[in-house]
Amino acid sequence: MTLASAPAKLILCGEHAVVYQRPAIALPLGDIRAYARVADEETGRGIRFSAPDLNRTWSAADAPNETLSELARATLHAIGVAPADVHITLTADIPIASGMGSGAAIATALVRGLAAHFGRALPPADISALVYASERRFHGTPSGIDNTVVAYEQAIWFVRQAETATGAPPPVIEPIRVAAPFILVIGDTGRRSATRLPVGEVRRRWQADPAHYEDLFDQVGAIALQARAALADGAVGQLGALLNDNQRLLEQIGVSSPELEHLIAAARAAGAAGAKLSGAGWGGVMLALVDADARSRVGEALRQAGATRVLETVVGGDAGVEGVGGG
Ligand code: PMV
Repeated sequence: MTLASAPAKLILCGEHAVVYQRPAIALPLGDIRAYARVADEETGRGIRFSAPDLNRTWSAADAPNETLSELARATLHAIGVAPADVHITLTADIPIASGMGSGAAIATALVRGLAAHFGRALPPADISALVYASERRFHGTPSGIDNTVVAYEQAIWFVRQAETATGAPPPVIEPIRVAAPFILVIGDTGRRSATRLPVGEVRRRWQADPAHYEDLFDQVGAIALQARAALADGAVGQLGALLNDNQRLLEQIGVSSPELEHLIAAARAAGAAGAKLSGAGWGGVMLALVDADARSRVGEALRQAGATRVLETVVGGDAGVEGVGGG
């Protein structure tokens, strides 16, 4: 039996614009994870899956077009193992469709688990590529930021490259330097939102008015650039205003929601230095930058404002993610 896992993620800034080749910053949340347990099956039974959280079991042979069936086959092909008789159990602590990368984390855990079960070492770039190909079938136009931050499991600067006639050049992926640790409080609206819906809506709006949306994406990209410099300089004080500016642009892009804005306003009123939605929007989670004094006050304010789950993470420090209540 082999156990593998992969972290949740947060986009600190740059979501949506990242699909249009602007830079974004993403962070892994090492203490919130998805797990894949891989065990040998009787010979001839093929690849079988259990997802107890979803009350589902299936076999790759009966559901060949299922995203995870395809990903398991692609992984086994990549590591040169076929046929395989394995039972894969998938679980996750990550709320689904919440902007925390549950899909990429489950897929990454699956790839890591299969590779480890058969004694193969797959580098992060190969894991990321397998998961990206899988997300692409499901989402249409993912930027690749989710699979990258989850597979590399470190804070990254990510810039997707434009597709050319000969295909898409690999994205720019660079580690982010965080000179001074900072604290994020994460509030979940409890409203699930499938990534492809807001991503599709943004595409329609961009197609209808490309000049306006290109300008908004440029402004988001400029924020990511300033945020990167602030993190590298340890100038956490500048980050709050940048997160607020990013939120204002996300509202203009059309991916915010009343529930997100309610939590964002509550966090700011309770002393957060800045707050924004994180991920695809229309639901899912928001994040707030806080100092040590405001930390518990903001967490409490988010719960009072109806957050279904409140988490904290220290970025750039040794501490991990903590739940501070709300289930
Ligand atoms: O999967 P989510 O909800 O974290 O959103 C991904 C971020 C987007 O920029 C909205 C889409 C993408 O592919 O980068």
